[in-house]
Amino acid sequence: MSDRLIIFDTTLRDGEQSPGASMTRDEKVRIAKLLERMRVDVIEAGFPIASKGDFESVKAVAEVVKDSIVCALARATDKDIDRAAEAIKPANAGRIHTFLATSPIHMQEKLRMQPGQVLELAVKAVKRARQYTDNVEFSPEDAGRSEPEFLCQVIEAVIDAGANTINIPDTVGYNMPHQFGDLIAHLMNNIPNADKAIFSVHCHNDLGLAVANSLAAVMNGARQVECTINGLGERAGNASLEEIVMAVRTRQDVFPCDSKLDTTQIVPASKLVSNITGFPVQPNKAVVGANAFAHESGIHQDGVIKKRETYEIMRAEDVGWSANRMVLGKHSGRNAFKTRLAELGVEFKTDAELNSAFSRFKDLADKKHEIFDDDLQALVTEAGLEHGNEIYQLVAMQAKSKTGDKPEASISLTVEGTEKQASSDGGGQVDAAFRAIEKIAASNSKLLLYSVNNITTGTDSQGEVTVRLERKGRIVNGQGADTDIVIASAKAYINALNRLELSERRAHPQKTDTI
Ligand code: KIV
Ligand code: ZN
Repeated sequence: MSDRLIIFDTTLRDGEQSPGASMTRDEKVRIAKLLERMRVDVIEAGFPIASKGDFESVKAVAEVVKDSIVCALARATDKDIDRAAEAIKPANAGRIHTFLATSPIHMQEKLRMQPGQVLELAVKAVKRARQYTDNVEFSPEDAGRSEPEFLCQVIEAVIDAGANTINIPDTVGYNMPHQFGDLIAHLMNNIPNADKAIFSVHCHNDLGLAVANSLAAVMNGARQVECTINGLGERAGNASLEEIVMAVRTRQDVFPCDSKLDTTQIVPASKLVSNITGFPVQPNKAVVGANAFAHESGIHQDGVIKKRETYEIMRAEDVGWSANRMVLGKHSGRNAFKTRLAELGVEFKTDAELNSAFSRFKDLADKKHEIFDDDLQALVTEAGLEHGNEIYQLVAMQAKSKTGDKPEASISLTVEGTEKQASSDGGGQVDAAFRAIEKIAASNSKLLLYSVNNITTGTDSQGEVTVRLERKGRIVNGQGADTDIVIASAKAYINALNRLELSERRAHPQKTDTI
């Protein structure tokens, strides 16, 4: 059995299925480049049939990524598979991942198909995908609740049809680690052609067991793990990449394999994904939480000073905690700015884009002495949507408060190029600013979440604001960053409004009305 653990990252596909986490094409490309730099083996870039935007995003990732396999998801239908194949055409190495549910509840209630039909359709889908690429993955969806004997039949048939990766999803996060480990061992020991495929797992975190289940599967022979940065994903999320990779790397005395990941890219990737999606990382999150290497108690601090290993099982620098370098300042030129952003995976398509980002950088450098990588990432994310697509743009704003008086805000926005102004009072300056914006936009949306984080430390740090809006069931997150948190809040609200206007109605992969 191989001693290589393949890391399949699905942040851009399953991660994006988290309500409000949808990403633009350029954002996906930024994340994909960082995943490639991290040496992730397979990047699942999206679900091309979902919408034109999803198709374009997968294609754009396939065009720029050279060292990782770029994968596209497809239901077991001809049109899904053909569209996935088209999207990954530019890739150096492309994979089609097709799936069909095999659990009794999914077959009866969702697909309304007999097991025989499911088996036939799965084989047909794999054969079709093989016409486009020799790298085909098949997932029996809801495998964790499927009958093992039926799973064996389906898997044997799809391997014969040409699937070379078999992914076992615990779609609803129902399994216990020992049970899931046993299932993997059972499949690998009982399917006659099991040696012709790599066994993979894809675990959801509904009971908080996604990482434990994935690791149990690895101990029982799985050699690909599907995971996401920060554990992002449908409902409670997927297994988190950083936890899987560091568990396996740290406990080489236990695991019979290891990934080839450059773990120093983990924290930058975590911050980038959090920054782009607006999903904050909880401070006590393993590996990437702000407190993951912080020692509060005096006894622990004393131990760590005497010998780090007394309380630390990993080195902070090995997962990239030192990567947030102070890079630029007030006197840095355009070239230094461009070069550092290129190192962070951000390239400007036109001089106009570079100039506008550089002028935002100069404004920031006037207010903030030291500019860190995280500041640069926020600066680029803030520009956010594909250039020129913004319906609303902030021109200027003013907010004031005085003890005993009602706070007020005035705002000036362009709406499709036409400047409009409004003022309002409110419970605080942020509330007043949002009310003023709504007087102009009348978006009819509901504010679901408002959160502020500091990007770096110190009172001159930029505040990074996330605003989550919902309209007619569609949820978007907007981000804004500024050293002034009221301005950051207004930018985030405007960013969310723009995303709401631009968000497309997309097909969901697990909705099968078209099969
Ligand atoms: O959770 C799941 O079953 C999936 C499949 C598409 C692999 O995301
Ligand atoms: Zn999933």
